[in-house]
This record gives sequence, C-alpha cells and structure tokens, in this order.
Amino acid sequence: MDAAHLARAVELASLGPSWGPNPRVGCVIVAADGTVLGEGWHRGAGTPHAEPAALADARSRGLDVAGATAYVTLEPCAHTGRTGPCTDALTEARIGAVRYAVADPNPLAAGGGAVLRSRGIDARHEAFGPARAINRRWLGAAETGRPWVIAKWAQTLDGRTAAVDGTSFWVTGEEARAHAHGVRAEVDAILVGTGTVLTDDPSLSARPPHVDDAHQPLRAVMGLRDTFGAKVWRDENALALATRDPHEALGMLAAREVRTVVVEGGGTVTTAFLRAGLVDEVHAYIAPAILGAGTAAVGDLGIGTMGGALRGQDVTATALGVDTLVTAFFQRGPQ
Ligand SMILES: NC(=O)c1ccc[n+]([C@@H]2O[C@H](COP(=O)([O-])OP(=O)(O)OC[C@H]3O[C@@H](n4cnc5c(N)ncnc54)[C@H](OP(=O)(O)O)[C@@H]3O)[C@@H](O)[C@H]2O)c1
Repeated sequence: MDAAHLARAVELASLGPSWGPNPRVGCVIVAADGTVLGEGWHRGAGTPHAEPAALADARSRGLDVAGATAYVTLEPCAHTGRTGPCTDALTEARIGAVRYAVADPNPLAAGGGAVLRSRGIDARHEAFGPARAINRRWLGAAETGRPWVIAKWAQTLDGRTAAVDGTSFWVTGEEARAHAHGVRAEVDAILVGTGTVLTDDPSLSARPPHVDDAHQPLRAVMGLRDTFGAKVWRDENALALATRDPHEALGMLAAREVRTVVVEGGGTVTTAFLRAGLVDEVHAYIAPAILGAGTAAVGDLGIGTMGGALRGQDVTATALGVDTLVTAFFQRGPQ
C-alpha cells in the first residue's frame, strides 16, 4: 500500500520542472481508511514545497488531515529557505505519520525526519527506487556539491563530430536534433568551448518542437579567448567561464545555482571534463555516416589499454529516425 502511495507521489513529482535549484518532489496525504485527502507537488524554487501544497489541497477540499499519513518522495525539509520548513507545516496540520522515499542529502535541509520524530510524529524513511531515479541528477549534484554533467555530442559511425573543414551541420537528422532540444529544456545550463562558438556561432537555445515557452538554460562559454559579439551573448542569460579548468568552470556554475549542465563540446572541452572524471552521463547521437577523417568526439584520455576503458551503466539506445541516441551513466572518477 505504501508503495502505491509513494508511486503516486513520484507521478506528482514528475509534474515539476527538472531544472532549477530544487528537486522534484511529490506528496500524497492519505487517511487511515485509505482516502486520499490531498495531493501536491513542487513547481520550482520560490513556490510552495510539495507538503504545504498537498496540505493546501486538502484544506481547499475542506478535509481534515489530523492523524493522516503524508507520503513524500523526499525527506521533508527542516530549514527556512525561500519558503518555511515543511516539518513545521506538517506538525501544525497534526499529520500523524510521514513516509519519505529518499533521505535529503542537502546538509542545509536534511534532518527533517528526526525533527518530526522528536515531535512525536511517526516519520520513517522508506526507500523507493523510482523516487531516487526521478531526481538522479539533482541528488548527484547535492551529494558532490558540483553540478551534474551530461556530455552530449553528435557523431558519425566512426566517431567524428566534425569534418576536416570544420563543418558539423548536420551530423544527425531532424529527430535527433529535436530530441537534443528537449534535453536542453530540462537542464540549467549548456556549456561549450570558445572553439565551438568561434567556429559555429551557435544560438544554444532550447527549441523543442511543439513547445512555445520552453525553459531556456544558461549559456556558458568556457575558454580564454574573447567571443563577444557571438550569438550566445544576445541577452543576459549567458556566462563567460574564463578558465580551462573544468573544476573551476563547475564551481562558477554552482555559484549560479546550476545543478545540471550539458557539455555540448567541442571535443577539446568534452575531453577535458572526461579526463577530470567529471562526466556523470553521456548522450551520444550516432548517425549512420562515415567520414574517415575529421574531429574525434573525444580525444586522448590517457587510457592505454582496453581494461582501462570508461564503461557506462544503465545504458539506453533509442532510435531517432535513422540515428540512434545512446545514453549511459558513468561512475564518478577522481574529483
Ligand atoms: N558534432 C557535435 O556534437 C559538435 C558539438 C560541438 C562542436 N562541434 C565541432 O567541434 C569543433 C570545435 O571543437 P574544438 O575542440 O575546437 O572546440 P571547443 O572544445 O569548443 O573549444 C576549444 C577551446 O576551448 C578552450 N578551452 C577550454 N577549456 C579547455 C581545456 N581544458 N583545454 C584546452 N582548451 C580549453 C580553448 O580555447 P581558449 O584559447 O579560448 O582558452 C580551446 O581552444 C567545431 O568544428 C564544431 O563544429 C561538434
């Protein structure tokens, strides 16, 4: 029964934005007889957390939640951030029990379960895989204190991202490019090197098909050369990362509350992140094309033997028209 309510809470959580500094959280409040009294989810930083949203939902229906159980995808927060502590909202509403699926790794907000227990509320952590999966990137960022890094590129069958003359429009077809625009709209920032800006002058906007008001990620350009005048600087939603050090670049992004960044190349910058062990996830769009020469998707990583290959986990392969998207998660290397 708990699993069914937690599954519903995950469904609610998925209605929230995957970008922004806060996790996606859902909450269902259930009476002892199984009646659902209220549901809520977090709609992004500065808006009510899932628990107060579910309490408000119950109130708006004239339902009393005293003694009921709140099922939450993440441990209720015990701190005042942009909004008040959820532990207080639950206590004031006289909730009887709380089941949370993931312990909060954020040291500022953690400890909510213990606070609730100290107030006599039966609060328990009940691990539930889908609740972890829905915030995999956010949790990864919270656990390491640096943004989660997705390395994305479009390559030919023989691993080239650009031809000898520097052209890379287009490696893949429309469906693959549309998919990549959808991913951009899910993240906080896109990062490219100065080389890509000077060669391609990309817009780095999120233009998923059939979406008019897609979330636009921060555009970040990494490297020492001046690229001002390029399209990425068309408005304030852009950041110069005047460094060649991936750790420093991520520190600058973290200072802007970036939790997930897509590193979109070129090969030099992608290689630097891989060498530093800072890539958590790879999205490789693979076109059935062969160039034979040109820029490699990834350069030398100092790996000399097959046993040293970086191996992905939780791999997916998705057909997108004639192309294939392969995604994989990579264990964190040296930080
Ligand atoms: N198919 C694809 O998915 C895809 C995606 C992107 C780009 N591309 C293609 O890739 C090509 C550009 O690739 P690229 O490798 O030349 O460009 P890049 O990786 O975008 O930029 C390289 C530049 O970034 C700076 N930089 C930042 N961090 C660095 C580090 N750790 N080490 C060394 N340099 C660093 C350096 O310039 P400073 O002197 O300014 O520091 C360097 O020259 C273009 O042809 C583009 O069309 C293809």
